[in-house]
Amino acid sequence: MKKYLVIGNPIEHSLSPKLQNYWIAKNNLDAIYGKLETHENDLVELCNNIKKGNLNGLNVTIPYKKSIIPYLNVLSGHALRTQSVNTVCLDKGNLIGHNTDIDGFELSIKKLNYDVSNKSIMILGAGGVVPSIIYALKRLSAPKIILSNRTKEKAEEIKNVFKDIEVVNWGKLPSFDMVINATSLGLKKNDKFGIDFSEVGRDKLFYDVIYNPFETEFSKAGRIPGNLFENGMNMFLFQAQKAFSIWHKIVPDINDDLIEFLKN
Ligand code: ATR
Repeated sequence: MKKYLVIGNPIEHSLSPKLQNYWIAKNNLDAIYGKLETHENDLVELCNNIKKGNLNGLNVTIPYKKSIIPYLNVLSGHALRTQSVNTVCLDKGNLIGHNTDIDGFELSIKKLNYDVSNKSIMILGAGGVVPSIIYALKRLSAPKIILSNRTKEKAEEIKNVFKDIEVVNWGKLPSFDMVINATSLGLKKNDKFGIDFSEVGRDKLFYDVIYNPFETEFSKAGRIPGNLFENGMNMFLFQAQKAFSIWHKIVPDINDDLIEFLKN
């Protein structure tokens, strides 16, 4: 039986096991997918276990998408460009790091039919997923990206890679068409958004990378009549679909029944 894990910290919120095991069952595969709360010094052993065949693949989430890289042999083009890995597999004895977040984000925007090519986009946060979002937005021809993070230096580090983005102080809200929550605010029950969005106006798209809880804190902060809201569920599904196809060479189905199953 093949074994897969999602690793991160915190990890309780992850619906990856529920989703991947659903697809494993639908496709009659002899495999199992679990989750593991991981500490930095576990990464080397987890990678060795893949090389030894005790484990067949990993999904990597907060906060290890970058710190897993030194333990891998090869990075895909997307992982190299963003220095961010969310999927690991073994190929001819080499540990390969992939980034499926880029496709996940891009496909979620396409599914929304939202044209970013004439939009100003503000991103909140500078954690592991942000380079992937910026990279995807650039592929979709977004002309203006503004980045804001509580710890400004981390936003500046991202600007060193993507030079034409603008960095603003945390709490400042320049005018925008779309705002993306890429912080971890909202993962924990009592998290509150310290930013007041009541004056940002209408016709804005609020996009939260968080998908569990389904109704996120950010959606409450941005609940202003006339605005659109999207949580991270579609991004989550599309990045997972790509990871599944890397491991099993099968593209699994995404449909409304599956989303209902994950929500309950
Ligand atoms: P990492 O930063 O280790 O990659 P992450 O979970 O991917 O981890 O990123 C968490 C993001 O949420 C960061 O942008 C973090 O801001 P800091 O860089 O200042 O830590 C942001 N974040 C977490 N808690 C926050 C809070 N209470 N207020 C504002 N931003 C917060």
